[in-house]
Amino acid sequence: MTLLVTGGAGFIGSNFVLDWLADPSAEPVVTLDALTYAGNRANLASLGGDARHTFVHGDIGDRALVDRLLAEHRPRAIVHFAAESHVDRSIHGPGAFIKTNVEGTFTLLEAARAYWGALQGEAKAAFRFHHVSTDEVYGSLKADDPPFAETNPYEPNSPYSASKAASDHLVRAWHHTYGLPVLTTNCSNNYGPLHFPEKLIPLVIVNALAGKPLPIYGDGRQIRDWLYVKDHCSGIRAVLAGGRLGETYNIGGWNEMANIDIVKTVCGLLDELKPDPAGKYERLITYVTDRPGHDRRYAIDARKIERELGWRPAETFATGIRKTVAWYLANAEWVSQVQSGAYRDWIDTQYMSR
Ligand code: NAD
Ligand code: DAU
Repeated sequence: MTLLVTGGAGFIGSNFVLDWLADPSAEPVVTLDALTYAGNRANLASLGGDARHTFVHGDIGDRALVDRLLAEHRPRAIVHFAAESHVDRSIHGPGAFIKTNVEGTFTLLEAARAYWGALQGEAKAAFRFHHVSTDEVYGSLKADDPPFAETNPYEPNSPYSASKAASDHLVRAWHHTYGLPVLTTNCSNNYGPLHFPEKLIPLVIVNALAGKPLPIYGDGRQIRDWLYVKDHCSGIRAVLAGGRLGETYNIGGWNEMANIDIVKTVCGLLDELKPDPAGKYERLITYVTDRPGHDRRYAIDARKIERELGWRPAETFATGIRKTVAWYLANAEWVSQVQSGAYRDWIDTQYMSR
């Protein structure tokens, strides 16, 4: 039995594949990834010649390719991470988000439906389509609102979150109409190793080390609910193993923090672990024009996955962020490798005129 993991060369997908294969008795993995700017073969380099891992460079929207992979590898589950994932990029260019997140998920669902429909007996009963989604589909919370529960209405506000919401609806409909055995998880903001430095936490770490400004959108009081990436991966494993078909599970760390406090925490750790002779890293904090349509607050009510599946995060924010900063300090080569020409173009587009 095999897992087909889409987007397994990205941030969360690669952490998931590495964690999965760290278990010597784990099933083999086929990673399908289009290697966009966010996908990186080097993220999986530590697997070396592990015969349990096969990497396929390709697009989830390529139906013939997906059909061939399903026929060849006969996976017992598809774990679907592949997506365009950055809100700011979705504001600059929403087309790619519709193409991959909506049309790509549709293609994958159709291929999965044909494959699953032809399975028999135990293989058919065991098959799962696990869709990895986000808390952003629920919209933005006011200061006193309770955290997002699975029953919250969908109110996506950005092109990214609207495209993810659309994909969630497709997954739901393929279960309801065709009986496809789906599971959906909606997780809060992840952080940790292998996080592409366009997102807040890795951007702040790499900019601080380079002596560059640490851009804070608006007043910096927007709140996110941060979860260490390996805890997200353990949540996905728990849902894949024991989640009820057709259900959605929210995954979060009960860790709401304002952006400015996140950035100050990172600066404090860098002051401790790699002091800058020029002064405290906080001196680099720079307030810039806000993100259009910026959601004010996200927070996850994770009681369902805790209650039904006994899942709990292993890291607190204090332990997870320390590991994360230490990882970036120890992996300068990975950082410089991902800061290609295309990366520099994005940073110019995004920050030069703010
Ligand atoms: P990422 O941008 O780091 O990685 C996405 C991966 O998908 C890359 O490897 C990319 O090459 C690949 N990809 C993109 N388009 C593809 C296509 N058409 N075909 C095949 N591969 C393609 O994203 P991430 O942060 O690792 O997020 C993974 C998933 O988790 C996404 O679905 C995202 O919506 C969801 N999610 C992310 C977070 C977060 O905080 N990062 C939180 C909750 C949910
Ligand atoms: O909530 C889950 C989502 O978290 C995922 O679905 C997305 O894929 C993921 O990218 C993330 O979205 P955010 O927009 O919350 O993450 P980002 O790291 O881009 O921004 C976090 C917060 O920091 C947000 O309020 C915007 C702010 N920010 C971001 C950047 C890049 C800044 O203030 N300055 C910045 O330079």
